[in-house]
Amino acid sequence: MNLGEKCESYLLELASITERREGLTRLYLTKEHKRALKTIQGWMEEVGLKTIVDDAGNLIGSHFCKDKNQPTLIMGSHQDSVINGGIYDGMLGVVAPIIALHEIDLNSLSYNLKIVAFGDEEGVRFKTTYLGSKALTGNFSDELLNIKDENDIALKEALKIFGLNPANISESKLVEEKLSYVEVHIEQGPVLEKENTSVGIVKAINAFQRYEITIDGKAGHAGTTPMNMRQDAGVVMAETAVFIKEIAEQTDGLVATIGQASLKPGAINVIPDQSVFSLDIRAPEEIIIDRAIGKIKEKMKAVSYECGVTYQMKRLARGDACICNENIINLIKSSVEENKIKPVYLNSGAGHDAQEMSNIANVGMLFVRCKEGISHHPDEYVKITDLESSVNVVQSILKNYNKG
Ligand code: GLV
Ligand code: MN
Ligand code: MN
Repeated sequence: MNLGEKCESYLLELASITERREGLTRLYLTKEHKRALKTIQGWMEEVGLKTIVDDAGNLIGSHFCKDKNQPTLIMGSHQDSVINGGIYDGMLGVVAPIIALHEIDLNSLSYNLKIVAFGDEEGVRFKTTYLGSKALTGNFSDELLNIKDENDIALKEALKIFGLNPANISESKLVEEKLSYVEVHIEQGPVLEKENTSVGIVKAINAFQRYEITIDGKAGHAGTTPMNMRQDAGVVMAETAVFIKEIAEQTDGLVATIGQASLKPGAINVIPDQSVFSLDIRAPEEIIIDRAIGKIKEKMKAVSYECGVTYQMKRLARGDACICNENIINLIKSSVEENKIKPVYLNSGAGHDAQEMSNIANVGMLFVRCKEGISHHPDEYVKITDLESSVNVVQSILKNYNKG
């Protein structure tokens, strides 16, 4: 089995640990999360890493070099998925460095190495994001422990059920001074396919914000209430959704998505008295998002007044745009070239653990071509030869890091 085939076999094994059959569904702090960590832990130990699961549910495999004062290179990505997602998003970044270590003697490394399988990146279960990497950066605030999933289970409860101690999460914070973080991830977009190359070097990651928007109106009879006497929370949601789409279409680089929506009481013949919907909004710079949010708030104020409803917009998560570190970009570039691949540079529209890790480390990312740029979908696919290229480049990164 070559390195690409081995990588695929590991990914398929992880893909079998799913809540649902259609694609991959593995959410944070579930029994599937626990099973996945056990599998990955076995692989990490096989290549000589010492493993721990921290109190945020991150699995960390470490190798300490003789001189502890040397820098630390962290590689990794997330173990969790979206609902009915693909098998490469996140998992490739965990598996590729482990496979790469099959052919590298840990004692030959002049630095400390950590490979991390972050517990939560997607933020699907608790509607926030980067809960895993926040524990490592020290940004996991106590308030987060009270957020609830859709079954009303608070994060602190879910951690306890998983066998973790929420009171100890602050101990996960990395205290090393010289930290670098390199993440391998599928591109989730079409650039590398268009460039006809297997891997690319990320220069920057877009900023994002996530919101929950609630509109409160008044329920009424769908047959008897005249149109001009309604306080219809559903209509205000629909008008806002169209406005959001228009703003995104008119603003360079801005994308916005309403991925969740519900109406209450939820009966065919009752005017809805409440609508709740999500907003995921992203752009290369925070200011672009902030301006769009300002316009969305103005629009909601006007439509709510007109329709006699009230609205609330609650920000659930945000991430600043992240510029990758020049030295790490150069490390990845020389490792790409060493494998006779032309260096192609691109930005990331998707969010990544690297964004949060940039608060404590110099970060960079290696993107891997995926079929038609499809991701967050069961059809997500990476060719074995591209998996092989990514593992080869990771081997070069591991060998070249901390060499002058
Ligand atoms: C993570 O996949 C994201 O939503 O960008
Ligand atoms: Mn994802
Ligand atoms: Mn991902």
